[in-house]
Amino acid sequence: MKILMAASECAPFVKVGGLADVLGTLPAYLKKAGHDVRVIIPKYKAIDEKKYDLKPAAQGLSVKVSGDEELFAVKQCVTKDGVKVYFVESRRFFDRNGVYGEGGYEYGDSRERYIFFCRAVFESLKAVNFIPDVIHCHDWQTGLIPAYLKTVLKNDDYFSKTSSVFTIHNIAYQGSFPADTVVAAGFSWEDFTVDKLEFYDTVNFMKCGIQLADAVSTVSPTYALEIQDFNGKGMSVVLNSRKDKIYGILNGIDYDYWNPETDKNIISNFSKYDTSGKSFCKADLQELCGFEVKEDAYLFGCVSRLDNQKGFDIITDALYHLKDKNMQFVILGSGDPSIKRALEDAVRNMPKKAAAFFEYNEALAHKIYAGADAYMMPSRFEPCGLSQMIALAYGAIPVVNRTGGLSDTIVYYNHYTHEGNGFVFNITYGENFVETILKSEKIFRDKASWSPLMQNAFNSNFSWDNSVIEYIKMYKNILKAKR
Ligand code: ADP
Ligand code: GLC
Repeated sequence: MKILMAASECAPFVKVGGLADVLGTLPAYLKKAGHDVRVIIPKYKAIDEKKYDLKPAAQGLSVKVSGDEELFAVKQCVTKDGVKVYFVESRRFFDRNGVYGEGGYEYGDSRERYIFFCRAVFESLKAVNFIPDVIHCHDWQTGLIPAYLKTVLKNDDYFSKTSSVFTIHNIAYQGSFPADTVVAAGFSWEDFTVDKLEFYDTVNFMKCGIQLADAVSTVSPTYALEIQDFNGKGMSVVLNSRKDKIYGILNGIDYDYWNPETDKNIISNFSKYDTSGKSFCKADLQELCGFEVKEDAYLFGCVSRLDNQKGFDIITDALYHLKDKNMQFVILGSGDPSIKRALEDAVRNMPKKAAAFFEYNEALAHKIYAGADAYMMPSRFEPCGLSQMIALAYGAIPVVNRTGGLSDTIVYYNHYTHEGNGFVFNITYGENFVETILKSEKIFRDKASWSPLMQNAFNSNFSWDNSVIEYIKMYKNILKAKR
């Protein structure tokens, strides 16, 4: 099969969250399974052309956005796994310091930026002479691609054999714009109907993707059910209308990259067979945070986008209640300025016991996963979540809210049977994060219980091997239906 993945982020080139991790790994597994898979993303300023050896692929291309002709070029490179990646280069839309915005605020022209990107994907494919069987689109930024295939490009010979898949990584971000987007994006008013582009008199890019792709997937089985029910953020009716085309496929992580045995970012390597190195990583992290260096302090980590989704209100509340305990907390995150301020206040209240770093820092992220005893993830909703999987790989025990992908990956530890890999509470049932942390602390202080728990964490396996089979099945189903 020939597959093109279209997305707004891809690791290692540019990463804001887990979407980039998925785009950085899934294509490699599809390639290993024998498919011709390529990726296309915007060429943001942050992407280092020299480091990744970007070469020109096409020049002098243009598409229309809001009636203006936008010129662009395409660059390309090949990843270490042999996946070809295309970069859409536009001075007007992508040559800026941020990815989606700056200083915690989104750019005002997101609509134009991603109309441009979606249209440019089609022109780029023609220019590099690649005809995919499937265009696999990720999140709202690419939601217009299935819409173009079903409307403007319906009779375009070049794409007559091309189907589309739309994957929802986060239904909270939808890309909702006024009705005149129909004109700005070059659609016809005839297609502004509820079964195509229209959504409560707006053009909602995510709705377009869900409505018009040949299949829709999301990143965990539980989230797939939740969004059709109570967690659809206004999209559950649309999702229900496409019920038989919805797949819930759990993400995986790259265990070669997230590997404490070989990780170069951490002071001492360790593995499930010899965990002694983890104590050195803990001491290193404590020092870095300005904490007392002591083995018996129960050390929590958190590496996250600063977003309401992640339950930072629950975290700041917990810090307040736990401030007199023999515990330490380190948070690394960037995003919402109001969450940053709340965390600053919480940390100020706990000198030498809590620290927060407000930046995107890959190396520090590794140090936190490796040094922490436990990992806080009280997300209010979580489509999949990769952080808890990474934490498990480094023997940091997740304490999570039971929602979405967290339900599918974390099982409450039973210290009698030694089954389970973390601690789970349920906000919806009024269960409490602080109490769950205190219960986990008891286990932490009992070596005979904590060691098997750490082994269960190390043995949890969320590799892409299984999920990639599910994706291939989904692609085959839609291609069969097209024939
Ligand atoms: P989401 O995609 O909702 O942000 P995930 O758990 O799926 O959440 O993925 C988050 C990814 O981003 C993980 O790889 C995590 O380590 C990384 N990450 C988040 N914030 C930062 C940061 N400030 N610095 C480094 N890595 C980060
Ligand atoms: C989104 C979700 C996260 C998921 C990631 C990758 O950012 O918030 O739960 O793991 O996408 O699919």
